[in-house]
Amino acid sequence: MIPFSIDGQPVEGREGGNILEVALDAGIEIPHLCYNESVRPYGACRLCLVEVVRRGRSRMTTSCTYPVLEGMEVFTRTEKVIRARRMIIELILAMCPGDKVIQEMAKEMGVHEVRFKKEDKDCILCGLCGRVCDEIVGASAIQFAFRGDRREMIPPFLGEAMNCIACGACVIACPVDVIKMKEEGDERTIIRWKRTLKMKQCQVCGNYFAPWFQLEKFKERAKLPKEFFDVCYTCRT
Ligand code: SF4
Ligand code: FES
Repeated sequence: MIPFSIDGQPVEGREGGNILEVALDAGIEIPHLCYNESVRPYGACRLCLVEVVRRGRSRMTTSCTYPVLEGMEVFTRTEKVIRARRMIIELILAMCPGDKVIQEMAKEMGVHEVRFKKEDKDCILCGLCGRVCDEIVGASAIQFAFRGDRREMIPPFLGEAMNCIACGACVIACPVDVIKMKEEGDERTIIRWKRTLKMKQCQVCGNYFAPWFQLEKFKERAKLPKEFFDVCYTCRT
């Protein structure tokens, strides 16, 4: 474990870890939107800014992408940090003025007005849905497209997400809750990706429990008897 300090408090982090994970483990709050400990950090939202002092030099950096280094001093609430974070949340709010999560965060950070031109987007371009889909689910059904103002997270070729197994992992991962899923009869739809799949019925309780396509994909990967995929999670336990 590597010793360093956060706001004067001695902490330790694992080699290869980052400042944000150590801070959160130690109960030190640093605002963040695009970080999820289960996937690689991406540094998209920039809200997790901190000041790091090392070998007499100070720098501002995103704590989710900055590695744990011996002896460094991290400061999470300096005036410079607070001012920069306020500017960042104001910019995010200008991009997505209707997002409740962003509105709430901005309020908590003392930002009550937006001085920038407002857009009407809902996605903050954090990339979490794509990283979860790639790294955890292994489906790679969505990706970033275009540059600059037109940047968007979408299925390939702007159509239906053909690799999407409708597992709902992206729905859970999205920090601003803009990916919605609905189930009607024997169908599940991930609305944002325009993906509708037929569901399979549990052989014990008769409930529709998972998309056929998803179960087929899991069957290919898991070394489990075929019958395992005939029964829902509740009846299996
Ligand atoms: S849809 Fe949600 S998770 Fe995906 S990039 Fe946008 S804000 Fe992030
Ligand atoms: S949480 Fe670190 S940049 Fe978004």
